[in-house]
Amino acid sequence: MAIDLTEETITAAVQGTFAGATDARLRELFVSLVQHLHDFARETRLTSEEWFTAVDFLERVGHLSSPTRQEFVLLSDILGLSVLVDRINHAHSSATESTLLGPFYTEGRPRAENGADISGGVTGMPLFFSGAVVDTEGRPVADAHVDTWHSDGEGFYDVQQADRLNGETAMRALLTTDADGRFWFRSIVPRYYPVPTDGPCGEIIHAAGRSPVRPGHIHFRLHANDYESLVTMLFRDDDPYLERDAVFGVKSSLVAEFLQHGAGETAPDGTEMSEPFQTVEWTFALAPDRR
Ligand SMILES: [Fe+2]
Repeated sequence: MAIDLTEETITAAVQGTFAGATDARLRELFVSLVQHLHDFARETRLTSEEWFTAVDFLERVGHLSSPTRQEFVLLSDILGLSVLVDRINHAHSSATESTLLGPFYTEGRPRAENGADISGGVTGMPLFFSGAVVDTEGRPVADAHVDTWHSDGEGFYDVQQADRLNGETAMRALLTTDADGRFWFRSIVPRYYPVPTDGPCGEIIHAAGRSPVRPGHIHFRLHANDYESLVTMLFRDDDPYLERDAVFGVKSSLVAEFLQHGAGETAPDGTEMSEPFQTVEWTFALAPDRR
């Protein structure tokens, strides 16, 4: 270990300490991370005060993070890193395009039968979603697990209204495709929403004068044996914020038609509806697992 390190010599000295790492990928990642972090500090002439502010910021992001408040995920999202990593790893595929997971995914979602109402009693315009899961040749994928979650018509997820819902989950479920690769459920129509700005990430958004708003969407996470997992979302085609997503996740291939129907029309499940409702149909294509 060298002593009397300078601005010029410290980077190589730190990188050298990873030479003994038996995991070559870990070594590669840390050597590069040290290079870029040090270059960042040198380029910006980072002050001690700024460094303390950054450490305090990251501490506060960590303290706020929990299974239902993923502030670190949000930080990655608003800096565009989540979408960048997604693009690096899913650049060329004939499968349905992926996009970021977002901060509102939770493990504690209930299983639901096809056709179930997953709104959890949250009121809003009824939505009937009819989905299919196929491979890249168009063949149905049976027994695929489909996680879905979305906001309500005011733009809030269940985890943001835990008091009102007594901690119960709503507008999220784990479904399974049938023998024809189909899944379907009833819920309510989601709306655009601001990402949470009451935490450290909000300070960045406000300081930059950025919009915190995401266009309305429904999240999906699909798993099936022998296929690559898919994390994606479908955006409302009529959303005013489609071109201005706060976390850079919109893709034109993921914009879905939310078809409007009037009162008195029959829903896909045969219910004669006494109020207006919307329907969405979508087919998700999964890529074969290359591992
Ligand atoms: Fe979302």
